[in-house]
Amino acid sequence: MYSRIAGTGSYLPDRVVTNAEMETMVETTDEWIRSRTGIERRHLASAHESTSQMSAEAARRAMEMAGVTADDIDFVVVGTCTPDILFPNVATMVQDRLGIHDCPAFSLETACSGFVYGLSIADKYIRLGEAKCALVIGAETLSRIVDWTDRTTCVLFGDGAGAVVLKASEEPGILTTILSADGKYGDLLSFPMGPSRGFDALRAGAAGGIQMKGAEVFKVAVNTLSRLVDQTLDKAGVDKSAIDWLVPHQANLRIIQAAAKKLDLPMEQVVVTVQEHGNTSAASIPLALDVAVRDGRIKPGQTLLLETFGGGFTWGSALLKF
Ligand code: UT7
Repeated sequence: MYSRIAGTGSYLPDRVVTNAEMETMVETTDEWIRSRTGIERRHLASAHESTSQMSAEAARRAMEMAGVTADDIDFVVVGTCTPDILFPNVATMVQDRLGIHDCPAFSLETACSGFVYGLSIADKYIRLGEAKCALVIGAETLSRIVDWTDRTTCVLFGDGAGAVVLKASEEPGILTTILSADGKYGDLLSFPMGPSRGFDALRAGAAGGIQMKGAEVFKVAVNTLSRLVDQTLDKAGVDKSAIDWLVPHQANLRIIQAAAKKLDLPMEQVVVTVQEHGNTSAASIPLALDVAVRDGRIKPGQTLLLETFGGGFTWGSALLKF
């Protein structure tokens, strides 16, 4: 028994903020943002948009493509570090919005790796016969936790959601996944406030938001992803020449190019959306996947490598037949 992606969907807020608009908000330039990251614009949520609402919209579209209804869904997982509220968790809110009842529903706060972590767990449930049709979602409203006065981070992030329907299948779908993490890097990328540590800094009106030591994160990301690519191919017993598409986490075009080089893959076989979406953390891979499925680039039967890296640090990969 395998699990296989039966449908993809995504949701992006209407509001698009270009680099030119960012220039009016902080001391930056379009040239700096493009050359360092590849980002040209990002979508930002309006007041009526939330992580659960975007998740539900993306899920609805994935379910439509898969031809399944709320009654078919027996597992819901949402990767997000920007839930609407602390609890109920976002996945239960998605259940409620879509009329899904009586199945596991939980969220994962593994930052940019949230979608791949969710995919790996849902795959295990399906392979063990404990679920037949899972919703796996990655969604973020990062604009709500960004420090809009900090030019080193605020230009990088965007909002959005992506989802897949993962169904039990006798044909191979997900071939292997790898999840990993190393907490010793926690301080390099964080949102260092929360219910247990307290929100005092925020209450005191101090600037607060995502904090990142960008150049250090960059180095560890490139090295870790390079190792991860080898580990994934080894584990699956697949040669890199078999990969049709790399669908990477969209943090920085230069990190994506390094991964493509490692695979000897021309950039034409890499799905790149960072220029349009910015870094949407857990949403970035399912968003990119949906874009390339809907524009006809990714076709049934092709072999895809998904890889991600983010706060924690956490990282992970999935090698799959689409
Ligand atoms: O998604 C989770 C994982 N996250 C990542 O993978 C992100 C990894 N890191 C990166 O993508 C890159 O490190 C960044 C894009 C964040 C930064 O690029 P960089 O080439 O590493 O730049 P830097 O941080 O070393 O900064 C270079 C210079 C600094 O000025 P000085 O000290 O050299 O005078 C910064 O102050 O660029 C300056 N700078 C800016 N200038 C204009 C930083 N942010 C900006 C900005 N506009 N927005």
